[in-house]
Amino acid sequence: MESNVDMTETAKGRAAWSGRWAFVLAGAASAVGLGNLWRFPYLAAKYGGGTFLITYLILVFTFGISLVLLETALGRKTQQSTIGAFRSFGKKYGFIGFFCSLIPFIITPYYCVIGGWVTKYMAGYVVEGPDALADGGAFFSNFITSQEESFLWMFIFMAIVFIIVSLGVEGGIERVNLVMMPALIIMAVAIAIFTMTMPGALDGAAYYLVPDFSAVSPELFIGALGQMFFSLSIAMGIMVTYGSYLDKKSSLTKSVAQIGTFDFGVSFIAGMVIVPAAFVTLGSGEAVASNSGPSLMFITLPQVFDDMGGAAAPVGFAFFLLVLFAALTSAISLTETLVSIVMDGAHWNRKRSCVAVFIFLAVVGMFINMGYNALSFIEPLGEGSSLLDLADFISNYVMMPLAALMTCLFVGYVIKPKTLIDEIAISSPFKLRKAWTVMIKYIAPVLIVLILIFFIAQQFGLFAV
Ligand code: PFF
Repeated sequence: MESNVDMTETAKGRAAWSGRWAFVLAGAASAVGLGNLWRFPYLAAKYGGGTFLITYLILVFTFGISLVLLETALGRKTQQSTIGAFRSFGKKYGFIGFFCSLIPFIITPYYCVIGGWVTKYMAGYVVEGPDALADGGAFFSNFITSQEESFLWMFIFMAIVFIIVSLGVEGGIERVNLVMMPALIIMAVAIAIFTMTMPGALDGAAYYLVPDFSAVSPELFIGALGQMFFSLSIAMGIMVTYGSYLDKKSSLTKSVAQIGTFDFGVSFIAGMVIVPAAFVTLGSGEAVASNSGPSLMFITLPQVFDDMGGAAAPVGFAFFLLVLFAALTSAISLTETLVSIVMDGAHWNRKRSCVAVFIFLAVVGMFINMGYNALSFIEPLGEGSSLLDLADFISNYVMMPLAALMTCLFVGYVIKPKTLIDEIAISSPFKLRKAWTVMIKYIAPVLIVLILIFFIAQQFGLFAV
């Protein structure tokens, strides 16, 4: 298995996965991250639990994996990363790849801010102890509003990412992943079981699992769609690049289904821990929904751990260590993407590009972090919102849908689905080709356009949600 997870160089000098599993693992490592453990649970809590879960499930296994398949097939066909892949069909299409490439420049800085929170919490279980962290939110707000500490931990997280990226130890990180990913799942399942034994948790589980169709709203749908893009790492070019490293024998359809299943599975379990825990702490579905936001993992979970008595410190530490690991593998994949965009775009070597990306992330990350302290008076999306919320909003709700729309139109009407169907069929029979074509040509573009129209209407106050 181990030799399967190394990247090797092909005769042409292009990096290549050594096998299909290496690709699946890398896709899953990039996909499974803060999106699953931090973002998904709070969105599920906010949008009516079960209703959000079902909407998300359907979206991932129709729209989501269709797009992952499209991107990987585009990469494998053209043997190029994003901008080159689009450009290889005509210079004028390069802008689509360029637009996709802008998105990780927005996501990565705020990803590092949250990575810093996770690192701080992991250390907090050793230094401050579980009681200090479970004080109903004061610890969290003191931390993020602090002028020094919050920056320090963001830089610690960034430093770990950059050490690994500059060493280029893809084989190493993937290997560690083989141990850490299953460990993450075992931990999450164990904590979910513990949560279920708490009084009131079953009601919380029901809130999470049983759909309440009165909760269906356009906002819920947009939330699920944005989450799908973020979590599956689509609409930002990364899967095109990963697909370009894949050999022609490996089944694209199977690999993509496995990445989607893994990614959904981890989100599902994370929600199973955090939503019922929030329910126990807050008492009702409405309270969960109205209190839910980025801080859910950092305020309610420590309270759950604190009830574990002597086990609180090791369990809390292990949980945040594993979240940190998931965050790191994704942050590394994001940073790698940025470094390779700069290398290709500016024709700089790896070292220089790493330095440039580091400076960029440090400056923008600090700015976003200041949104919680020095610049907290800026509330770009209404009361209580932060610069981080704005970055998350622009990337997940505006740019990714637009990038996905352009990609679908490009494949559906410019190069035609058949071009990629032929590529997919090289490695495995593609039974769902008709459904996939309908998805790419009609369903996906129509859905995205409807969402964007709704969104614009909402911004102008034509909708009250
Ligand atoms: N999919 C990651 C997550 O859910 O946390 C975030 C991400 C990683 C997006 C890598 C994009 C990417 F290239």
